Amino acid sequence: MAALKFNAPVYAANSRKPTAAAKACAACHDFNKGGPNKTGPNLFGVVGRNHGSVAGFAYSEAMAGKSAEPWTYEALDAFLANPKAAVPGTKMVLATKKAETRADILAYLAKLADAPVPFPAP
Ligand code: HEC
Repeated sequence: MAALKFNAPVYAANSRKPTAAAKACAACHDFNKGGPNKTGPNLFGVVGRNHGSVAGFAYSEAMAGKSAEPWTYEALDAFLANPKAAVPGTKMVLATKKAETRADILAYLAKLADAPVPFPAP
């Protein structure tokens, strides 16, 4: 598979169906500010916050162990592409193999913030 090298501006420009793509995540994640944790933690504001940092969610030891690391777009892209490779021991199993779909999802996650984190410059 020709994995697209992560390129945030290209991702932003290519994203077409963010809401549809994120439906796959909604089974386990709530996206609303102040929303609940479900099988997975609430994802409002995930871009820029630290790994494993939502209060009241029982993270895996693997995810909790990364709590000093922020979720950059690059880190999110790698995690979504292959959760078990990016965070060995994570409880999240869904891999989003298509780069185009990840682009849509990142565009969706980018909007879930009071002050959205801009995509990095090329
Ligand atoms: C079957 C349930 C399930 C689905 C579907 C799912 N996730 Fe998760 N997700 C989890 C669980 C459980 C965790 C906690 C992982 C851990 O503690 O190791 C998690 C963690 C995460 C994290 C880390 C959050 C944090 O606070 O550190 C992100 C980001 C994430 N998921 C994004 C997504 C996205 C985007 C999708 C859709 C493509 C998705 N997830 C689909 C269950 C799921």
